[in-house]
Amino acid sequence: MAGYFTEENSIEAVNGRMGKDINPRLAEVMACLIKHLHAFAQDIQLTQDEWNYGIEFLTRTGQMCSSERQEFILLSDALGFSMLVDAINNRRPARATENTVFGPFHVKGAPVRQMGDSINLDGKGESCLYEGRVIDLDGKPIEGARIDVWSDSAEGFYDVQQPGVQPRWNNRGIFVTRSDGAYRFAGIKPVSYPIPDDGPVGEMLGHLGRHPYRPAHMHYLVTAEGYQKLVTHIFVAGDAYLESDAVFGVKSSLIGVFERVVNGATLWRSPFDFVLARTAR
Ligand code: BEZ
Ligand code: FE
Repeated sequence: MAGYFTEENSIEAVNGRMGKDINPRLAEVMACLIKHLHAFAQDIQLTQDEWNYGIEFLTRTGQMCSSERQEFILLSDALGFSMLVDAINNRRPARATENTVFGPFHVKGAPVRQMGDSINLDGKGESCLYEGRVIDLDGKPIEGARIDVWSDSAEGFYDVQQPGVQPRWNNRGIFVTRSDGAYRFAGIKPVSYPIPDDGPVGEMLGHLGRHPYRPAHMHYLVTAEGYQKLVTHIFVAGDAYLESDAVFGVKSSLIGVFERVVNGATLWRSPFDFVLARTAR
């Protein structure tokens, strides 16, 4: 027995209570969490008032959650924790396209559209042609890759943030590659927007002197049989928030080209090839 709890033995006192036959990974995760949590309180000499505020903050974070709003994911994103967990779990060969944060605005079951179709249903914003290929590490085209794309509107809101204002599935769609691996669709040139900041996370950003903005980006979820799932964005080069993204999602390899083309109603073109790494066999 570790003895009664003291300030000096706090970590052993708590971890020593774990049963012998519990899930070994759970035991490892919890022991490490307790070690770092207790060290945090010691390092910072946490006051009672500060911890009371912390509990009240986490309580409000939970209370803000609903089927439409996930304030805990937002907290994880704003603390850079989502990007860290993503990096740990998606180490890839250098040539493969990099992952970034998934975000809360993906919606399952978007319409599968014909190659070349537009995802922009409200006709607002500057039209942009997105095209390229889905290829493997050797540059070979991948057939049957599903490219699930979503972006904000010209006003900086996802359709799900404005039900009844934007058409359902506005700026969303799924495209499936044929044997040449090529994809092509029309959308808008996205705009930068603030993450939802009317809750505890927004309050935290305010206290920390941080703004809530994300640089403009198009979201991509690319999946293909036998390949690692790719969750990424292509960011608009030159955006004012590239170096201060509220959720730390920017990687230099994901800053895309948006070239002016002016071809009929199309004003921009954004070419990008997605390179997928195979899953371990
Ligand atoms: C997004 O890009 O949609 C997003 C990512 C993280 C937090 C909020 C929004
Ligand atoms: Fe986004």
